[in-house]
Amino acid sequence: MKLPSPIQLLEDELFKKHDIAVYIKRDDLIHPQISGNKWRKLKFNIEKFRQGGYDKILTFGGAYSNHIAATAALTKETKVASIGIIRGDELNFSSNETLKRAHENGMELIFTPREEYALRDEKYYHEELRRRHGNVLIIPEGGKNFHGMLGCAEIVSELEQDMDFVFVPCGTGTTAAGILSALDKTQLVGISALKGGGFLKEDVQSLLFAAGWLKEDIEEQMEQFHLESEYHFEGYAKYTDELLDFIRTFYQKHAIKLDQIYTGKMMFALYDKVKRGEFNSGSQILAIHTGGIQGTQTIPDLFV
Ligand SMILES: Cc1ncc(COP(=O)(O)O)c(C=O)c1O
Repeated sequence: MKLPSPIQLLEDELFKKHDIAVYIKRDDLIHPQISGNKWRKLKFNIEKFRQGGYDKILTFGGAYSNHIAATAALTKETKVASIGIIRGDELNFSSNETLKRAHENGMELIFTPREEYALRDEKYYHEELRRRHGNVLIIPEGGKNFHGMLGCAEIVSELEQDMDFVFVPCGTGTTAAGILSALDKTQLVGISALKGGGFLKEDVQSLLFAAGWLKEDIEEQMEQFHLESEYHFEGYAKYTDELLDFIRTFYQKHAIKLDQIYTGKMMFALYDKVKRGEFNSGSQILAIHTGGIQGTQTIPDLFV
């Protein structure tokens, strides 16, 4: 495990021209398979597993889920038994590389009809899953829970200098909520990977509320969080040639891989905002590389 994850300055003419400094926190380098916010979200869930005397971890995900891939790798490494409830009973463990690797890492994959999968957050369904699978610690899809947020908050404790802005990609908002809870004055810019992701602002507030982390001045705290929902490139897991060209050029310039689902969209948004002159001269900006490179397997020629 490479922790704390390194922070790199991104050398770019564009940033020089605007007199700003842009850094990237390489959470993608934490571990080859358990990288980015997946490690952050799993860390305290594994601790809970150890302290709670559970027999197995059970979690949920789609066919290409970064969370399933990371959970399978981490449970193999920590010798914990795991079950993955996978959306879609048309799939099997050789349907793609994510599922193949999760299976090889010892995760029991249960391919579940979509109607049943839709119950994944229901308490009565969790009871049913416990009846079927015994004393399991149930981790929600994407690691969206209190312990997940707690791990994401640790990203902030690894920063050695004050930043004016932190950029993070958003799917469920768990990573953003964890980071926001730990920031003092720094502004957090969340880039929604989903179309119509405006609801994420409320979701982040609800996550903070549930964790007991909302500050007394809720409005002030939420004003610190800027959600951008116009960089989704047609929707979740969708992409355009413009986005892929950006990811390729970024890789050629910086030798850092981004994925087309989360981090590519975030970095595209950051560059776009710089070009639009949205940051004052002297601004210090940090982008969190939340990992997810295994998701680029669907575009084989992305980095050649
Ligand atoms: C690589 C990557 N980045 C960002 C996110 C979004 O994180 P969150 O769901 O916490 O908003 C995800 C999904 O969990 C992800 O896999």
